[in-house]
Amino acid sequence: MPDLTTNCAGIRSPNPFWLASAPPANSGGQVQRAFDAGWGGAVWKTLGQPIQNVSSRFGAINYSGTRAIGFNNIELITDRSLEVNFREIYETKKKFPKHAVVVSLMVETQEEWKDIIKRSIDAGADGLELNFGCPHGMCERGMGSAVGQEPLVNERITSWAVEYSTVPVLVKLTPNVSDVLPHGLAAQKGGAHGVSLINTIKSIIAVDIDRFVPEPRVGSLSTNGGYCGAAVKPIALHMLARLTRSGEFKIPVSGIGGITNWRDAVEFMLLGASSVQVCTEVMLKGYRIVEDMIEGLDEYMASHGFDTLDQLVGKAVPAFSEWGDLDLNYETIAKIDAKKCIGCQLCVVACHDGAHQCIHQSKETNGDATRVPVIDESECVGCNLCKIVCPVPDCISMVPVDNGFAPATWNQHVTEGLPLRPKKGAH
Ligand SMILES: Cc1cc2nc3c(=O)[nH]c(=O)nc-3n(C[C@H](O)[C@H](O)[C@H](O)COP(=O)(O)O)c2cc1C
Ligand code: SF4
Ligand code: SF4
Repeated sequence: MPDLTTNCAGIRSPNPFWLASAPPANSGGQVQRAFDAGWGGAVWKTLGQPIQNVSSRFGAINYSGTRAIGFNNIELITDRSLEVNFREIYETKKKFPKHAVVVSLMVETQEEWKDIIKRSIDAGADGLELNFGCPHGMCERGMGSAVGQEPLVNERITSWAVEYSTVPVLVKLTPNVSDVLPHGLAAQKGGAHGVSLINTIKSIIAVDIDRFVPEPRVGSLSTNGGYCGAAVKPIALHMLARLTRSGEFKIPVSGIGGITNWRDAVEFMLLGASSVQVCTEVMLKGYRIVEDMIEGLDEYMASHGFDTLDQLVGKAVPAFSEWGDLDLNYETIAKIDAKKCIGCQLCVVACHDGAHQCIHQSKETNGDATRVPVIDESECVGCNLCKIVCPVPDCISMVPVDNGFAPATWNQHVTEGLPLRPKKGAH
């Protein structure tokens, strides 16, 4: 049976699934119920000077019958007193000594950092997470993403925290930057034991087209909020890989952003996350989703022969490269499995209007009235679009073809003059 025990930057937990700092980790009662449900760790809702929140504060995007594929919030940090939070952290740690309780923090001055770090550790925190990511409300007060967007400030505050802390320090990075690497390196330079990413993405989720106000609406006004949930996973994965692929960046990462199931979690781990955090999916479906996550990860590891998480963390990182390193002579074409095809013609429409006009209705090609489309392989550029739109799993496959050309990347073509295959579909 695979061992799911996790060590992320020196913070240990029975499994890699942690609640992200957010409403599901707002109180002791919640975190304890989450641990009972199977979560291995929790990053407590960010502590600082308690704030007043607005009403309403959440918004969501529904797409094609699926509710909340993207989520947005204009909530700030904790609105509960520090005394109550610390007492509940203490009680939670006492009941769950083996689970990870990481305390997220956001304050302003050096003295405030020193004080809140000491109180967090006294309460039993296994680790700290410095919230340098919140993209609304707190940044106007000089905190959150206002810190995360300035590498020198990030490095300075991180170094204070590391100096004052006796437990590992994670820096939670903001995605609201053009390149996350300098910010990850700033945290590393400040002495952070690891980073977590991503926090939410600055966004307007929607506009109320009858009231003429963006959402979520607070009376007659709104403001930008932080975007998260399933839709942000690709952005989070890229930022994760940007760090883990860099030779300069060497500290562990806790991966966050759009994780909804065990498969998403495995993707983050393969790109180098040694623990994963979840917020939106728990808000939408509850703590119980972790049962499937644990079972799925367990079965995935067993089926791939992984005994421990170390064996899979980062395994896909070497396969993430620059465009210039891709083999331009690698060629695939689409093939339809006629036995699986239901004749819906979605691939015909997509290829005709959105790709290279090389899937045809069968009667156009050979007079045969079958509904299975026909692919003109001499024109197919292997773009994947038909496979993406096809509603039947594995009905369209992208099959490699031997075109007789040796591998050649753009970089090799430019520097060594390696020949490229003739272009297809470029007439
Ligand atoms: C309502 C809400 C409140 C949040 N509050 C915090 C917070 O207090 N501190 C923090 O670091 N991140 C906060 N986040 C960000 C999450 O911890 C997480 O980084 C982000 O939602 C991406 O993960 P997800 O796609 O699983 O939701 C909040 C997110 C939401 C939706
Ligand atoms: S892979 Fe692209 S070009 Fe080829 S048939 Fe499909 S949609 Fe058309
Ligand atoms: S989209 Fe798939 S199922 Fe529909 S016609 Fe094309 S190959 Fe057949």
